[in-house]
Amino acid sequence: MQRKILVTSALPYANGSIHLGHMVEYIQTDIWVRFQKMRGHECHYVCADDAHGTPIMLRAQNQGITPEQLIADVQKEHQADFAEFSIGFDNFHSTHSDENQALANQIYLANRDAGHIETRTIEQAYDPEKELFLPDRFIKGECPKCGAIDQYGDNCEACGATYDPTDLINPISAISGATPITKESEHYFFKLGHFEEQLKTWFRKGDHIQTEVAQKLKEWFEGGLRDWDISRDAPYFGFEIPDAPDKFFYVWLDAPIGYLASFKNYCDRTNLDFDEYLKADSNIEMVHFIGKDIIYFHALFWPAMLQGAGFRLPNHIFAHGFLTVDGKKMSKSRGTFIKARTYLDHLNPEYLRYYFAAKLGPGIEDIDLNLEDFQSRINSDLIGKVVNIASRCAGFIKKQFNGKLSSSLSEPALFDSFVNETDAIATMMENRDFGRAMREIMALADKANQYIDDKKPWALAKEEGQDQAVHDICTVGINLFRVLIVCLKPVLPQTAEQAEAFLNIDALTWSAVSTPLLGHKINKFKPLMTRIETDKIEAIQNDSKENLVGVKPLKAATPENTVIPAIADEISFDEFAKIDLRVAKIINAEHVEGADKLLRLTLDMGLEQRQVFAGIKSAYSPKDLIGKQTVMVANLAPRKMRFGLSQGMVLAAGPGGKDLFILNLDQGAQAGMKVK
Ligand code: 2FM
Ligand code: ZN
Repeated sequence: MQRKILVTSALPYANGSIHLGHMVEYIQTDIWVRFQKMRGHECHYVCADDAHGTPIMLRAQNQGITPEQLIADVQKEHQADFAEFSIGFDNFHSTHSDENQALANQIYLANRDAGHIETRTIEQAYDPEKELFLPDRFIKGECPKCGAIDQYGDNCEACGATYDPTDLINPISAISGATPITKESEHYFFKLGHFEEQLKTWFRKGDHIQTEVAQKLKEWFEGGLRDWDISRDAPYFGFEIPDAPDKFFYVWLDAPIGYLASFKNYCDRTNLDFDEYLKADSNIEMVHFIGKDIIYFHALFWPAMLQGAGFRLPNHIFAHGFLTVDGKKMSKSRGTFIKARTYLDHLNPEYLRYYFAAKLGPGIEDIDLNLEDFQSRINSDLIGKVVNIASRCAGFIKKQFNGKLSSSLSEPALFDSFVNETDAIATMMENRDFGRAMREIMALADKANQYIDDKKPWALAKEEGQDQAVHDICTVGINLFRVLIVCLKPVLPQTAEQAEAFLNIDALTWSAVSTPLLGHKINKFKPLMTRIETDKIEAIQNDSKENLVGVKPLKAATPENTVIPAIADEISFDEFAKIDLRVAKIINAEHVEGADKLLRLTLDMGLEQRQVFAGIKSAYSPKDLIGKQTVMVANLAPRKMRFGLSQGMVLAAGPGGKDLFILNLDQGAQAGMKVK
C-alpha cells in the first residue's frame, strides 16, 4: 500500500555555517526519504532555516546589517551546502516567513483560548547598557562551584556544574561587559502540565519514540512538567505575540511550527492539500528526525502545542546521537571542526554519505568519524568492492560484445539469492538500521567479486571458444552490480545516477531489482569514483584550522570585574604570520546613518587609503579619532556591509560600551608600516 509521509530534519540556525555534525542528521534523513521514494511512497521532505532569536539579532548588529539580510545570506550558503551533499529537500524555507507567522499565531491563539497560556511577572538579568534582557548564554562570570572564570550563565565548562545566571560570581553581560541588573517583566507561559495525561497516553500507544528516549521521558514526567516560558521582550528578532505589544514568541515556539510552515509553502506551490496533513485524524505519517539534545522540545512541547491547537501529533520522533571526530568532540585546534564547505572543497560528498550510513543505527548513540578508517573504508568498500564489480565486467561487454549483455542469465540462483536479500535490506533501511544494511550490501559485493574471481573471465577471454562463457559471466556480474546499486541508491544518489547512465536505464526503483537486464545495450564504463588519497584528508584538516584565522576581540580586565575570556585555540606560527598588521592613520571619521555602533573611518596606509567600519562609536566621537595612528588588519577579506564596503579591521580591546580602546601609536610610527 502506498504510504503518505511528511518528513523533517531539525532546522539549522541561520547564524552559522553547516558543519559535519549537522550533516549526520541531514544525511540520515535524506537516505530514509530517498529510500521511501524508491519504494514508491509519497514522501515529502521539508526543512527551513531557524531564523529567530537573540544571537541572530546580535550577530546582524555586529555585522552592521539587518537580521533579514543576515538570514538571507546564511540561507543561501546553507542551501548550497545541502544541494552539494544531495540533501533532496522538497522544500527549504525560513521560520521568518508569512506562513510561519500565520501558523504560529493560529497555534498560539488556539492554545490561549483553550486556557493553556498564563502570564506572570518574572525577574530576569538585564543589560542596562544594551537595554535588553539577557539570555543565560549571554551572561558570563565566575563559576559558583569551582571559580573558573569566563563561564556562561547556565553551566560551567570547566567543572560541568549547572546553575542559574544569578549564581555567577562577578557576572557581566557578554554583549557589553556591563554588570547585569535584575529587572521585572511580564512573561507568557505554556501550561505543559495540562497535557501530561494526553502525552502519557500518546507515548504508550505506539512506537512514536525510541526506547532510550522513553526512559528519558519517564524521568521528566517524574520530575514534573514545568510551565514553559514562550515569550521574550523587545528588542528581539521574531514574531510579536498577538495582543501583546513588545512581547515576542521565543524562538523555540515558532521553530517546530516552521516544519509546517515550510510544508504549507510547498503545498501552496504544488497544490497539495495542507489541511489533510494537519487535521487531528489525519492518517498521513509525520516524522521528525532530530538530535538527541532537542528531544524535550520535540517529544513534549511540540506534541502538546499541536494537541492544544486541535492538530494531529507526529507519528515518529527519530533521535540520533552526536558526531565525534577521531573519538573526540570536534575541535578547531585539531582541525576536526569541519565545515560542510571545507569537506566539499576536497572530497566527493558521497563518501561521507556512505561512511555515515555505515555508522548509523536506529539508536541515539554518538557516531565517530575516524578519518583513517573513513579513508580505508571508502577505498575498500566503495572502490575496491562495489565499483570494482562493474569495472571488471564492463570492458569485456563493450569490446567483445559491442556493449550488449547476454540474452539469458547463466546463474539464476546466484542472481535470485541477491534479489532475495534485498527484502531484508529494505527492512533495515526502513528501521534506520543503515549500518547493518551497508554490511549486508558489502557482503553481497564480496560474493559478487568472489564469483568473478572464481570464473576468471580475463583468463577465459584468452582461450578459444569461450566467448559465450565470458559474455555470460560478465552479464551476471553487471546484473549483480545493478542489484547493489539499487540498494545503495538512497545512500549514493549521484553514483547511482552515473551507474544508471552506464547501464543505459531509467531511474532505478526498488521494485526494479528483481528483473535482470538482458539482451540490453550498455554504455561505456567511466570510473564512478576514485580512491581517497591521504593528502585530501590532510587538506581538510589544514583548512579547518585555517578557519580560525581572525582576531577575537579581547575583553580587558577592569578593577570591578576581572573577566578575561579564555585564550582561544592555539594557532601555528604560519597561521599567525598570515595576518598582515599595519600602522594606519585615521584621516577621517564620521557617523554612519542608521548604525548604532559603527563609525566610518578613512585610513591612510601609506600607499593607499581604505574605508573601514569600526564598532567603536560607544567609546569615541569621530573628532577625537582624526589624526590618531592605530593598528589595522590589512589583509582581511573586504566585507560588504549595509553601509558600504569595509576594507579591513581596526583592533580594539575592552569590555565594550565606553571602555573600548584602540591602540594609539606615537608619531614614530608611519602609516603603512608593518607591525611586527
Ligand atoms: O537546535 C537547533 O539547532 C535548532 N535550530 C533546531 C530547531 S528544530 C525545530 F524545532 F525547528
Ligand atoms: Zn565550575
